[in-house]
Amino acid sequence: MAARMRILTGIQPTGTLHLGNYFGAMLPAINLQTQGEGFYFIADLHSMTSLFDPKERLENVLNVALDFMACGLDPKKCVFFRQSEVPEVTELTWILSPMAPMGLLERCHSYKDKLAKGVEANHALFSYPLLMAADILLYETNIVPVGKDQKQHVEVTRDIAIKFNNTYGQTFVIPEPQIQESVSVIPGVDGQKMSKSYNNTISIFGDEKSIRKRIMGIQMDSRTPSEPKPDADKNSAIILIKLMAEPSVAQEYEDRLRVGGLGYGDLKKALFEIYWNYFEPARKKRAELVANLDYVRQSLKEAAEKARTVAAVVLDRARKASGIGPI
Ligand code: ADP
Ligand code: TRP
Repeated sequence: MAARMRILTGIQPTGTLHLGNYFGAMLPAINLQTQGEGFYFIADLHSMTSLFDPKERLENVLNVALDFMACGLDPKKCVFFRQSEVPEVTELTWILSPMAPMGLLERCHSYKDKLAKGVEANHALFSYPLLMAADILLYETNIVPVGKDQKQHVEVTRDIAIKFNNTYGQTFVIPEPQIQESVSVIPGVDGQKMSKSYNNTISIFGDEKSIRKRIMGIQMDSRTPSEPKPDADKNSAIILIKLMAEPSVAQEYEDRLRVGGLGYGDLKKALFEIYWNYFEPARKKRAELVANLDYVRQSLKEAAEKARTVAAVVLDRARKASGIGPI
């Protein structure tokens, strides 16, 4: 019998989801849901490290659920739940903590980057990778699809799991990261990596007028429309069009830009139309879900119950192995 393949990933509910999230994380996860047993969750406990408005957190959780389900994550095909509805994860975080030397956590890029940006260091920000390790190990995960920025956290998880197994006996499955090499960094409206921290995002869902304005505001250089642009493939609008249009249509825009004659305004108008059509089915689906929020809430709840049955077994094993079982 083929071994079960459990695929797990989490997304933080820290803001409106954008095209970078969609092509870098959501779409790969949605495509993987039929390749194994998918466990996907909304990492609301992780969001506590950087978001301090409780109302906003709750709204974001619901919006991430709606966005994911509208884009094709199917609660019937995978286990899609909210992290905090499985409280076992916080206990496992503690059980794993002594396996993480300070130096290992101090070396984590995401922590160092936040410090470099002047974010005040708190304990949760520092121990963030431990909660992530608990997320992964609690569900006997084999594969963790993540962006490049999260690869190190999966490596930390592996180190911690190996150390625990060596100390207390075989307890955890050792996970593998799966990095989406084919999806490079999605550019934002300023040409930098699209990220909510740079305020340069294009949302997946939003009202037509403001997204049109956002797309028309994509920064371009000052070359005139008639000038040939040999670097057409590096143009942000072309990169985005390639992700959403038929390959032949995308190629045509790239060629027209390369030879000269296609103005940036017309290119951006085309990008808006392509974007708007691409997400049309998802917008329809999202409106249906909004009209049926009970279904969304109920499916998250049922998924959390399923996740808890797996979590209980693994936590019990970790407790017993480490001498926290019955005396
Ligand atoms: P943000 O940078 O907006 O804060 P997150 O760090 O919450 O986004 O990212 C969530 C997921 O989306 C991660 O897996 C990340 O790799 C992916 N992602 C975010 N922005 C991009 C981008 N511009 N290109 C590709 N993937 C991205
Ligand atoms: N840290 C991840 C991010 O910011 C989200 C996350 C939390 C996660 N727990 C996880 C991803 C477990 C994969 C596996 O993108």
